[in-house]
Amino acid sequence: MNHFTSAHDVKSISALVEKALMYKSTPWKDESLGKHKRIGCLFLNPSMRTRLSTQIAAQQLGMETVIFNVGQDGWALEFADGAIMNGTTVEHVKDAAPILGNYFDVLAIRTFPSLKNKEEDYSEYILNQFIKYTGKPILSLESATLHPLQSLTDIITISESMQAQKMESRKPKIVMTWAPHIKALPQCVANSFAQWVNKWGEAEFTITHPIGYELKEEFTQGATIEYNQNEALKNADFIYVKNWSAYTNYGMIPEVSGSWMMTNEKLISTNNAKILHCLPVRRNVELSDEILDGSNSLVTKEASNRVWAAQAVLSELLVNSINNQVL
Ligand code: CP
Repeated sequence: MNHFTSAHDVKSISALVEKALMYKSTPWKDESLGKHKRIGCLFLNPSMRTRLSTQIAAQQLGMETVIFNVGQDGWALEFADGAIMNGTTVEHVKDAAPILGNYFDVLAIRTFPSLKNKEEDYSEYILNQFIKYTGKPILSLESATLHPLQSLTDIITISESMQAQKMESRKPKIVMTWAPHIKALPQCVANSFAQWVNKWGEAEFTITHPIGYELKEEFTQGATIEYNQNEALKNADFIYVKNWSAYTNYGMIPEVSGSWMMTNEKLISTNNAKILHCLPVRRNVELSDEILDGSNSLVTKEASNRVWAAQAVLSELLVNSINNQVL
């Protein structure tokens, strides 16, 4: 694994899940792997879970972490090729990224989409320039279109729950459902979850959302799309709840009829489904209190598992960069 930006960077999702669960049972097993190695975590946008879990994972591999909140503390970065920088941006990524490559052994980046320019966002304009100019492994902490560490965590959490429920002998039914929100959110978590579940191939996968909220087909191909939420939820084993804004009418929030918030009542037709959400969550908008505080919720376990996902991925990046140096 040279970089970690999507499911395409992973040979076997199941093997990576096993590695994460191995770290969960023996967190300090590889505490020397990252000795004298440094990870820089650049945040162009806010975070709690991603930031802290990555830092803990790096520490458990013996790495030093430097956090840099670019949005707050750094110079305003320019990403446009050939830009005449007589405006608000102060430093070009072409100048900043190679320096970061000299400071760090792994560079981790969180950046959100503009939700205004679809082509630019879906070209992963910012992330790809760091890949081009840094010269070191890049770890996505969520990008314009994907959130791979979250999706790996989600599959770890589902796998763990399947083991606990002794349901490994059959494919679970996983339903990803759109949920209401007060503002336009990126499609990254939903795109990414769909991409990872489809590549994993160990589930029957249904996506349900109101008309107008179709995701890019590249990510959903392989899943059943069902516009009727009640229909979709029938016999579900796991429900992934997430809001996203429109992809087609980019960044818009088309009007929705009916109630899409997940409640206990909606669980009646399911197979006592377990509930996942990446957090942060708007209580009683996306999910009801009764669901979040009830026994079917996996959301706290899921957020805790972020550490093991980050540790498994960082370990792969470190081993790969050590092997490349030896060669
Ligand atoms: N789920 C997630 O990425 O959380 P943070 O935004 O707090 O990192």
